[in-house]
Parts: sequence; structure tokens; C-alpha cells
Amino acid sequence: MRIEENKSLKNYNTFGIASNARYFVSVNTIEELKQALSEKLSEDLFILGGGSNMLLTGDLSTFVLHINLKGIEILQETETEVLVKAMAGENWHEFVQYCIAKDFGGLENLSLIPGNVGTGPIQNIGAYGVELKDTFYSCNTVEIETLKEREFTKTDCAFDYRNSIFKNEAKGKYIITSVNFRLTKKDHKTRISYGDIQKNLAEKNIETPTIKDISEAVIAIRQSKLPDPKVLGNSGSFFKNPVVDSETFQNFRRNFPEAPFFEVSPTEFKIPAGWLIEKAGFKGQRFGDAGVHKNQALVLVNYGNATGKEIWQLAMDIQKKVKEITGIYIEPEVNVF
Ligand code: EPU
Repeated sequence: MRIEENKSLKNYNTFGIASNARYFVSVNTIEELKQALSEKLSEDLFILGGGSNMLLTGDLSTFVLHINLKGIEILQETETEVLVKAMAGENWHEFVQYCIAKDFGGLENLSLIPGNVGTGPIQNIGAYGVELKDTFYSCNTVEIETLKEREFTKTDCAFDYRNSIFKNEAKGKYIITSVNFRLTKKDHKTRISYGDIQKNLAEKNIETPTIKDISEAVIAIRQSKLPDPKVLGNSGSFFKNPVVDSETFQNFRRNFPEAPFFEVSPTEFKIPAGWLIEKAGFKGQRFGDAGVHKNQALVLVNYGNATGKEIWQLAMDIQKKVKEITGIYIEPEVNVF
């Protein structure tokens, strides 16, 4: 275990923000993780996974712990199902591809989501009609204060839209070391109702898609809309899609009858933040090296040398203008430090 000082995090966050960490350690085993936590340097701790859902607005005076735990293991299997354990530091998309190669079904709609396995449960990653919680079985953690290992079941995690216990009561208290998924080995329950998937499959005349077909469709859709962080720094959706009450929704509908929406319940309506941001005139706009992506307004991008503060300023300008124009308040999805 090597402690580095004043380490640049530019290659450790998908926004590609140049920010330095006062102390930095990359841990490869659970023993190393516990050792790092027990050193007194860990008092002001920053847990770093794939760095795909965060914005760094300055240098970190803290101790950055990079979770680099690797490995995939089959824990149990029957004729029809398999329980697979993936360590927190595995790249999410590579893990999804591993499952598809083995014909393990359930994660195909979540292809190409940036980040690592260990951060998936924190915000219950989701795309194209599927969320991590749908196949999540449990996750293993180390409690920071006591170094005790604890398993969180699906119920313990209290998953919700882009939310879990790890963003609430358990925030900053546990480090997720691995995640267990329950996947299908046959009779895969494919979910293709999300408009773009169906369209993509129809174009290829695929009527009964395999999980590989679905993964390929999702990859094609994502690549056509979302920038590759290796080419253009970004953190995926910067804002959450707002869910509003009936009264707010009715007022909004009066002014914007053409807006897409999704009825979450008879009294709750989800409106795509990307649509709102586009309506506010920001889509494709560039301010210095900070910008709004041209194909998906929900994604803020770093054209090269934007600082975290510049991206944050743009986000706040967007939030204000969207509220002024549409009456809807949008809230960031990324974690800001
Ligand atoms: N839209 C616009 N303009 C835009 C973007 C979107 O009008 O610039 C409209 C679209 O035409 C469509 C609606 O908004 O009617 C929804 O768009 P899309 O299907 O692209 O999905 P989204 O709601 O914008 C969410 C997730 C994405 C995920 C997609 C696909 C959130 C915050 N974002 O975006 O997640 O890939 O659905 O399931 O829920 C991420 O979290 O990083 C992420 C990329």
C-alpha cells in the first residue's frame, strides 16, 4: 500500500477535471482497505470509485481512498439462475459484457453505463426501463468506523429512483466492497419496451432478441446520444428528471402541452430534465470549455480545460433559467465536492 501526496485526479474522474488530492491510496484487497482505514490519515476521507458521478470543484485536502478491488465469482447456480459476485472496482460495462458472454440475463439494458460496480448501488443506476435494483441480491461493505464487514440485503438498501440508503442514513459510513446479482440462465426476461430499443431492433428485423442483441442496441443508442467520457469529459446525466405534484404539473402542461412526461403515480409526474434544459435554450451551448452536449441536454461536458467551478457555474445558470422559463426546479444528480 503506497500513500501518494498531491496526486492529480484528472485520470480518476470522467469529467477530466484537474484537481489534486492531498493524500491518495489505491487499495487492491479488503485487507489493504482495512489497513488504510485504520491509519490515522483516514480522518477526513474521500471514497473514490470509477469517478463517473462526481464533480470536483477544487483540490481535495482529504485522504482519497481509491477502491481498486477486482474479481468476479459465481457464488451459486441452479438450472435457471445464477448468483454472481463482482468486486467493487470492476468496471461496470466490462462486468455487464462478462455476463452477456456467459448468457447471464438481467443487466443487458444497463450496458455502457460509466463507472464501477461498487458505486452502482449508491444511486441505483438505471437506463432503458431497468434499474440495478431489479437484479441486485445484496452487497458487502466495510463499516468505516469499526472496520466490521456487513452485508446489505435489497430491502436494507431502500432503493428508489437514483437513490438508496447509501445516499441517506448510511451516507459516508460504509464502503461497498462487492455486489451480488441474481441473474437468469434461461428464459431471460427481456425488457425492450423503451422506445429506442424497439426501434433499433426493428431496424435490424430482430423480433425475439437475445440479451446480446439488446446490449448491442443499448450500446448503439447510447453512443448516438451520449458522449464517450474518454473523448469528451462528462458525468452522464448531470441533473435528475424532476418528479412534480399534480398542481405543478397542470400549470406546466398549460404552458407546455407538447412536453413529454411520465406518470409515476396519479399524483406524481416525471418530466425529462433534458427537455426542460433544451427548452431553456442551453442544448449544444458552449461557455469556454464548459458546455451542454449537443445530442442530450442533460449531459454537461468538459471540452478540455474547464474547471469544476466553471461546470458548476453553468449548472447553476441552467437550474435558474429552467425555473424561470418552465417553473420547474431541477436538481443535480452528480455529487459535487
Ligand atoms: N429530451 C429532449 N432533449 C434533450 C434530451 C431529452 O427533448 O436534450 C427528451 C427526449 O426526446 C425524450 C425524453 O426527453 O422524450 C427522455 O429522453 P431520454 O430517453 O434520452 O432519457 P432521459 O430521461 O433524458 C434517462 C436517464 C439516463 C438514461 C436514459 C435512458 C436520468 C437522470 N437519466 O435520461 O441516464 O441513459 O434515461 O434510460 O434518469 C445517467 O444517469 O447518467 C444517464 C445517462
